Amino acid sequence: MNSFEISKKTARLVVLQRIEIANPLLKYFRKLFGRYIFTNIITKFFLSTQEVSNKYFKIMSDEFLTIKDFIKGDNKNFLSIGGGVGGLEAVVNSNFNDINFYFIERNFVSNKIKYGWGGLLNSEAYNDVLEQKNFLLNNSINNSQINIFDFDNDQLPKLKFDIIVSLLSLDYHYDFNIYEKYLREVSTPKTKIIFDTIRADYFNKIFNNVKILDSQINTVHKSKRILCSDFKDKI
Ligand SMILES: C[S@@+](CC[C@H](N)C(=O)[O-])C[C@H]1O[C@@H](n2cnc3c(N)ncnc32)[C@H](O)[C@@H]1O
Repeated sequence: MNSFEISKKTARLVVLQRIEIANPLLKYFRKLFGRYIFTNIITKFFLSTQEVSNKYFKIMSDEFLTIKDFIKGDNKNFLSIGGGVGGLEAVVNSNFNDINFYFIERNFVSNKIKYGWGGLLNSEAYNDVLEQKNFLLNNSINNSQINIFDFDNDQLPKLKFDIIVSLLSLDYHYDFNIYEKYLREVSTPKTKIIFDTIRADYFNKIFNNVKILDSQINTVHKSKRILCSDFKDKI
């Protein structure tokens, strides 16, 4: 596999989820016409699905390398929070057998995409869970391995996860606090929780183990990717 099977509609979502995939012309259009027109019109007519597929695959393969050491072994229950259409999980699946993927996502595209810190308001989203499911099936994940939950409408899965991954989503666009209670319920001291944040030190108050895996200095947010485990007791 060196690119993804991707529909035009999914490619449009992927560009919203990963703006670095947009080529310079698309970025220029976004600046010129604003985000609403970019999202609803420009991506409809000026996007090369093949180019998106190739770039998305390359980005997700690189992201996979930052987390792969923590999936080894018996890690069968994988929770993805805000995984977008699921490119990372498709790459994980092509490298490991028999993983059960659980996705918590949202099922709408915000009118105004801000790519900012929504904090506790968390009103931003750019996904479509039907497109996500088709993407995962078309990229060799079996139906029985796919469990998708709509953050706004579904009861979230209640099981103990081995690994929880949220790239550029949890504590990057919205406050970790939104998920803290839930994550305490679905983790064991061994569960590995990986996400991107601009306040890595803060998590020393929440977890007994916090390790910085990577620093993203070239992005607007200058975030760190951290691996946390073992929640401290609440005071
Ligand atoms: C910047 S995109 C990143 C997508 C993917 N993780 C990646 O690295 O390409 C952020 C994703 O978080 C999702 N999202 C926003 N709020 C969420 C929430 N409360 N729970 C789960 N996902 C959320 C958005 O719909 C979007 O797909």
